[in-house]
Amino acid sequence: MKKILIVDDDSAHRTMLKVNLVEAGYEIVEADDGDLVLPILVEQPVDLILLDLKMVRMGGMEAIKLLREKGRVEPIIVITAFSSVESAVEAMSYGAMDYVTKPVDIEALKLKVSQAFDFEALREENEELRKRLGEHFDFGNIIGRSAAMQKVFETLALVAPSDATVLINGESGTGKELIAGALHHNSSRKNGPFIKVNCAALHENLLESELFGHERGAFTGADSRRSGRFELANGGTLFLDEIGDMSLQTQAKILRVLQEGELERLGGSSTVKVDVRLVAATHKNLDNMVKEGSFRQDLFFRLSVVPIELPPLKERTEDIPVLADFFLQRYGKKNKKDIKGFHPQALILLARYSWPGNIRELENSIERATILCLGEQITPKELPPQMVPEDYQTVAAPIISPGGLTLKDMERETIRATLERTGGNKSQAAKLLGIARQTLLNKIKEYGI
Ligand SMILES: Nc1ncnc2c1ncn2[C@@H]1O[C@H](COP(=O)(O)OP(=O)(O)OP(=O)(O)O)[C@@H](O)[C@H]1O
Ligand SMILES: [Mg+2]
Repeated sequence: MKKILIVDDDSAHRTMLKVNLVEAGYEIVEADDGDLVLPILVEQPVDLILLDLKMVRMGGMEAIKLLREKGRVEPIIVITAFSSVESAVEAMSYGAMDYVTKPVDIEALKLKVSQAFDFEALREENEELRKRLGEHFDFGNIIGRSAAMQKVFETLALVAPSDATVLINGESGTGKELIAGALHHNSSRKNGPFIKVNCAALHENLLESELFGHERGAFTGADSRRSGRFELANGGTLFLDEIGDMSLQTQAKILRVLQEGELERLGGSSTVKVDVRLVAATHKNLDNMVKEGSFRQDLFFRLSVVPIELPPLKERTEDIPVLADFFLQRYGKKNKKDIKGFHPQALILLARYSWPGNIRELENSIERATILCLGEQITPKELPPQMVPEDYQTVAAPIISPGGLTLKDMERETIRATLERTGGNKSQAAKLLGIARQTLLNKIKEYGI
């Protein structure tokens, strides 16, 4: 059970928080002043600190500075009056993770607490990872630290140097082509050609002519002799992409090349010897296709001597932050942006998204965010809208932009978002914001909302 330390000098408020958080399944420790925090932490570990800013002996700000000075890394969520959001922002610059305003919206608080724990888990993993970095972390430009990817790297290291036929299976955008390239570039054939054919893009006859070549006059339009991709790949690797989309007739011809190492061009009778290593990929389930009779079993056995399975990105969320970092560096450099990293909430959104387009979609999203980002951190604002829940504004952390969002901007945006949430109801909005209705009316007028 996660343990939360509530530090607040208002005992009624403390109890209210405690009751709600206990109900949400957390264990609570209490303190009524900032100067008690360090002694408590020394005595017992806690997982998160909920810290009021105004207290009698030692305020929250001072407590945060002291804790960070002493090297404590516990995540801290600050509680502050709406009128002093400014100090919450300052607290965050000293290392608080997030803040809530009074009167505390319990649902929002619970969400922030669980987000803080999600983020902690990510951070710890990341640290663990850094320690292991260099060990077995990537395969050149192929990134992944999930168990699934570690297995892929092992297989790659093992079979790349050999001539074994490899079958790569995975959804669109999971990295099939990247792996195929790595197999070639880490083999003894690396100085030979790496030739790719997309079997889904061509009709049967065209595909066969593409693969095996043709003699002059083999069909209408074949006005000269042409070598196929198998011949072009001689001494190197041929990558057959989307092999599940190949007709049974073409499958039979491929099988023959694999078995005999020779082929005939279309319309030709002489045999051509080829020395080619084959790597195939598909997003289809060839096993099922074999059962249905739409894929030859003998070819399937030949191809899948070494199978490599690339799971969808949503099944290896551990890879998301490292991939995001990797693409941030790549596109930061490319677009000459000095972006240091991701806001915790942006990372959490990335980790929660379903990624139907897998790594390609992640790569595109980060490239776009890099271009849009004006600050030092990628925030939820720069992520594609489908990744950000509709009610997101109501729980969003303040946007700290060194590019110069002023406090007034933030106040205006917060008021606007709150009014949106209450459907324009001002009394309700004033209550949520913790200010008098008249104050809200004044501010609406001032900002021209
Ligand atoms: N593990 C990874 N590390 C770094 N980049 C990756 C990784 N996997 C994929 N990518 C990148 O994601 C993009 C998509 O990968 P790739 O083209 O290999 O996918 P694919 O499975 O062949 O997709 P499709 O089925 O749509 O052809 C590429 O830009 C690739 O460099
Ligand atoms: Mg591909």
